[in-house]
Amino acid sequence: MKIQRRLRVVLVPYPFQGHVTPMLQLGSILHSQGFSVIVAHTEYSAPNYSNHPEFVFHSMNDGSHGIDMSFPSLENTYSMNENCKAPLRNYLARMMEEDEEEDVQGDQLACIIYDNVMFFVDDVATQLRLPSIVLRTFSAAYLNSMLTIFQEPEKYLPFEESQLLDPLPELHPLRYKDLTFPAIDNTVPEPVLEFCRAMSDIGSSVATIWNTMQDLENTMLLRLQEHYKVPFFPIGPFHKMVPSISSTSILEEDRSCIEWLDKQAPNSVLYVSLGSLVRIDDKELTETAWGLANSKQPFLWVIRPGSVSGFQCAEALPDGFEKMVGERGQIVKWAPQKQVLAHPAIAGFFTHCGWNSTLESILEEVPMICRPLLADQFVNARYLSQIYKVGLELEVIERTVIEKTVRKLMLSEGGKDLKRRVVEMKQNIVAGMQMDGSSQKNLNDLVDFISSLPSRCSPPTPVAIMCSNHTSSKCIIES
Ligand code: UDX
Repeated sequence: MKIQRRLRVVLVPYPFQGHVTPMLQLGSILHSQGFSVIVAHTEYSAPNYSNHPEFVFHSMNDGSHGIDMSFPSLENTYSMNENCKAPLRNYLARMMEEDEEEDVQGDQLACIIYDNVMFFVDDVATQLRLPSIVLRTFSAAYLNSMLTIFQEPEKYLPFEESQLLDPLPELHPLRYKDLTFPAIDNTVPEPVLEFCRAMSDIGSSVATIWNTMQDLENTMLLRLQEHYKVPFFPIGPFHKMVPSISSTSILEEDRSCIEWLDKQAPNSVLYVSLGSLVRIDDKELTETAWGLANSKQPFLWVIRPGSVSGFQCAEALPDGFEKMVGERGQIVKWAPQKQVLAHPAIAGFFTHCGWNSTLESILEEVPMICRPLLADQFVNARYLSQIYKVGLELEVIERTVIEKTVRKLMLSEGGKDLKRRVVEMKQNIVAGMQMDGSSQKNLNDLVDFISSLPSRCSPPTPVAIMCSNHTSSKCIIES
């Protein structure tokens, strides 16, 4: 349903690829529904404005000048949350003043939508009495695992080395080793727990938007909704809900790999990429290289600059590797991943299981080899391999194991079963994107919800008021 009056939404992304992408996609979805979209972004890793002429961009001074921000450490994330507070508050306050001066028919600020890692936005929105909405960029299963642990941390933490493979019955199919807290000396530092709490808290936000699907994660979403008590809008997969595709890539895409894929046989190539953040050591690179070479399967491998500790890029590859693989292997620094996965030559994806990569792979019917390395990736890998059964888990990083796993995915009957299931999974998700499907209906509800938000929340009252269904649009305001 198209809205009658032009409303403006301000989006605040977290400036790392796996977060910027879904936020910009959400912006395109909302723009196609009649909203005007402003992206208030950090100076660090600013989006490419020319790819999104439909948005207005506003750069916030994040204090990152001269600081190495290439990894989203706790320190960097907290300082970004602190430093952006005043710039965002001033910008919004000015906009709200102008709104009041302007004719009532003009664009009007409806709400602010922020990435769950940019939790400072909630403070700013509360101060300005502006409705805010949280964007969850990962799966409901991941958030559920975090919340379960916070409710009874002493039950799970600290855990011993000997417990790593023990199952967590309340969190099937997860094991202790899939709990994604970086444990130091078998304990989890309080700042890490604090950060996870801040990220999972929604403060006074009035709703949550999810890049996931009700048809895939309904049980989890219902469980989480009981906890948060605000409307949920699972409107994923964003990259297929967007009306037109424009690049959201921060790094430059090497498109030569598409020409190389054009020359390969259908359903013959393994795509290998560990996403935008993780770093591996040179030992893992070497084992992966020989595993791929010995599998004798064609592959396209993304080795991102800086992704191998101590090396710039592919110079860490072992001697003799490139000669051995010859034309059968192609290495690039960054690929147009969505196009790669959609290419008919692609048969499998060796992935770190970031949530975007996971959705992109499923929607192109590509079964996976799962090599999680941080955060939500462990949970995603477990669900892919144990629940959805569209992926093979790679738990031992050793060349013979990698070779065997690649051959199993690409050549065996078991690999064909994974393919059949991923095709079914995609069909179910696509059904949810049709006019009467869950994601499309939730999107219509989201448009109505934002359109009916009061331009300012009621002033703080001593009692907390909660939204309990999709038609209510009051803010929760803590006294
Ligand atoms: C991490 C988390 O693991 C993820 O689940 C979380 O929600 C965001 O942060 P990241 O390493 O960025 O994610 O992985 P992923 O979520 O898969 O996002 C990577 C994005 O980069 C994907 O959209 C992918 O298409 C894109 N990409 C990756 C490219 O465009 N080219 C490449 O060569 C590699």
